[in-house]
Amino acid sequence: MHFKTSFGFIILLLTVLSCQHKPIEAQEVAIIPQPNSINISKSVFVLNRATSINSEDTFKISSDFLKSYLESGGIEVNSGNDITFIVDKNLGKEAYSLNISEDKIEIKASTDQGAFYAVQTLRQLLPVEFESGSFEGSQVNIPALVIEDAPQFTYRGMHLDVSRHMFSVDFIKKYIDAIAMLKMNTFHWHLTDDQGWRIEIKKYPKLQEIAAYRDGTLVGHYSDQPHQFDGKKYGGYYTQEEVKEVVAYAKERFVTVIPEIEMPGHAQAAIAAYPELGCTGEQVKVAQKWGVFEDIYCPNQKTFAFLEDVLDEVLELFPSEFIHIGGDEAPKTRWKNCAHCQALIKSEGLKDEHELQSYFITKMEKYLNSKGRQIIGWDEILEGGLAPNATVMSWRGTSGAVEAAKSGHNVVMTPTSHCYFDYYQSDGEDEPLAIGGFLPLEKVYGFNPIPEELTKEEQKYVLGAQGNIWTEYIPIEDHLEYMAFPRMLAMSEVVWSNPENKNYKDFVSRLEHFHKRLDILDINYANHLYEIEGDLVSEDGKAFFEFKTLTEGKTIRYTLDGTEPNLESEIYTERIPITKSTKLNAAVFNSEKQLGKTFTQEMVFHKAVGAKITINKEPHKSYSGSGVEGLINGISGSDSRYGDKEWLGFWGDDIEITIDLGEEKEINTIETRFYNGNGQWIYAPREIVIEYLLQDGMSFTDKHNLKKSNDKIIEFDCKLIKIEDLEIKVEKIILKIPNFGTIPEGKQGAGNKAWTFIDEIIVN
Ligand code: ACM
Ligand code: ZN
Repeated sequence: MHFKTSFGFIILLLTVLSCQHKPIEAQEVAIIPQPNSINISKSVFVLNRATSINSEDTFKISSDFLKSYLESGGIEVNSGNDITFIVDKNLGKEAYSLNISEDKIEIKASTDQGAFYAVQTLRQLLPVEFESGSFEGSQVNIPALVIEDAPQFTYRGMHLDVSRHMFSVDFIKKYIDAIAMLKMNTFHWHLTDDQGWRIEIKKYPKLQEIAAYRDGTLVGHYSDQPHQFDGKKYGGYYTQEEVKEVVAYAKERFVTVIPEIEMPGHAQAAIAAYPELGCTGEQVKVAQKWGVFEDIYCPNQKTFAFLEDVLDEVLELFPSEFIHIGGDEAPKTRWKNCAHCQALIKSEGLKDEHELQSYFITKMEKYLNSKGRQIIGWDEILEGGLAPNATVMSWRGTSGAVEAAKSGHNVVMTPTSHCYFDYYQSDGEDEPLAIGGFLPLEKVYGFNPIPEELTKEEQKYVLGAQGNIWTEYIPIEDHLEYMAFPRMLAMSEVVWSNPENKNYKDFVSRLEHFHKRLDILDINYANHLYEIEGDLVSEDGKAFFEFKTLTEGKTIRYTLDGTEPNLESEIYTERIPITKSTKLNAAVFNSEKQLGKTFTQEMVFHKAVGAKITINKEPHKSYSGSGVEGLINGISGSDSRYGDKEWLGFWGDDIEITIDLGEEKEINTIETRFYNGNGQWIYAPREIVIEYLLQDGMSFTDKHNLKKSNDKIIEFDCKLIKIEDLEIKVEKIILKIPNFGTIPEGKQGAGNKAWTFIDEIIVN
């Protein structure tokens, strides 16, 4: 290699440079997740072609990692004292200190894992070219600094669903590499579900022959009716050899792999292979569409023997303390109609099917406890009574976590509101099709895994949090990375960094720097950093438009005539008064070019814009959009997503909205929309009542049925109400919107309260 021969020259050059007192350019310090404390000094440690490492066996994994990392960057690593690993028993299991001075680097930790995290930090202080082995420089100036660091939470996870779509072993390793780079320590591998069984179980060959494959896959979104299928066989499974390879690979990076074997629900693939595991004994097919299915395991002897056999093989492969047994979304329809299930409820003295689920889970817990393992399950395992030693993974909000922690059970936080990376991350119209929801980067970053209802004492049951990636709508690796990054980076900071050190703007600037590392690691990621957030604000009955963007040192340029902004367009300096219907376009520019997408906002200046609006119930905090004022801000919600800033969501409430026009105004039409995404538990109301208040105290009331909208092209199902030819003078308009009620049997979320989602109320 050429640098060996030119090494003398490098030293010489260095000396020359330092004689000239040229300021030394050091690597930037921009580490994710943010360490607890960083003290940077003026000098630098010069890493050159012959930097040496001194390590002992305690630090085998971490020092080998560093060695091969440096070697791939062209450093010839010898034994010596430039970089030293030192045992410090005062540090916690995952803590480390990294002390970089002019003449040496010291890594202190009590365990190899702690030292591994020091190495991950050091890695981020090196040029990104080290990632690909393409570093060609002769030296690196690492800033002298002291970092003291330790995680906030012991459970720092990422989940991946490989049932709905499957990913290669190489890709799984790449995913684990990213988990480890971000100092996370758990990979939750969702291996079985209705649409495919993905782990080889030698005792049950039909799991490989039948359960691992489906005959076709739903095309488009679940809400697109009628459902269409591609008719292509899809599937596969990980052999036990491959599973061992993945688990060993993860172990070398201090990542624990927790397998999930779903029970009693999400079991249709297994039942397709072995119909005797279901209540009816009838042949079913591996599911081809998404959702919740009624064919779940029947709690009979065959099922328990099957699951114990499956778990025996699983335990051989996975040394993790936790085994995830699923437990979510198990409809009780089959159990209600099964003679065996009903007899079991009677003979065991159980109250209902929920207690039967608890009986099921407790039985499996006993089995796993007898093998020295603990169960973890989705929060439905609370229903009918929690198994004695279970850990709860709270996904339907945080109330499951609160209930579990208050009864002394450990919890892992994965609420949909902050942890579901299968949700949309931007309301841009060009986002790839996603399941729904809206979880932008900032919201992930702002997540606090500790529910506020918990006392100090109860808080210790919160082990940590996890990002979940369900793959119904994520068929390929590139797309999966797009959903995972950069939200996974934000999550790493949620679970690792001290909340006092968290600052979104600072995170964003470190993320901008981190993009180069993701690029060179060939990790695809969403980049919404150069986008514009626009908001209509009203003050004293006047409306203004405000633009914001995240990154520093850039300019926002805009137009008001519907044309594309360019380098000549007006620079935004203060909020723009809006007095008529306007089409705004804006984009972020540096001095040379446009960086992000053009932001476009059509404002319809109707009679309620700027009026006073009140509501009897606050929208649900996950779907509060831009607040109730957003219902009369002149901006309609997205035609494809209810999770944007304009739609408001209410869970089960009857709502009453009052619009006070301030004075009697002549109005002729009122229109609004209700989302009707039944697959996501959202139902338009059956009818609404509108009360009109005139100035002299007179009022009258009208009741309206809702019709399905068909006069607008919209991607999702939604119901429109448009009242015309009113020709009245009113001061106040009151909309009374009763909730749809309980979701009917046979539908997604049956038995739960329905959601109501409402959009702009346009008054003319
Ligand atoms: C889940 O998202 N069904 C746990
Ligand atoms: Zn049954």
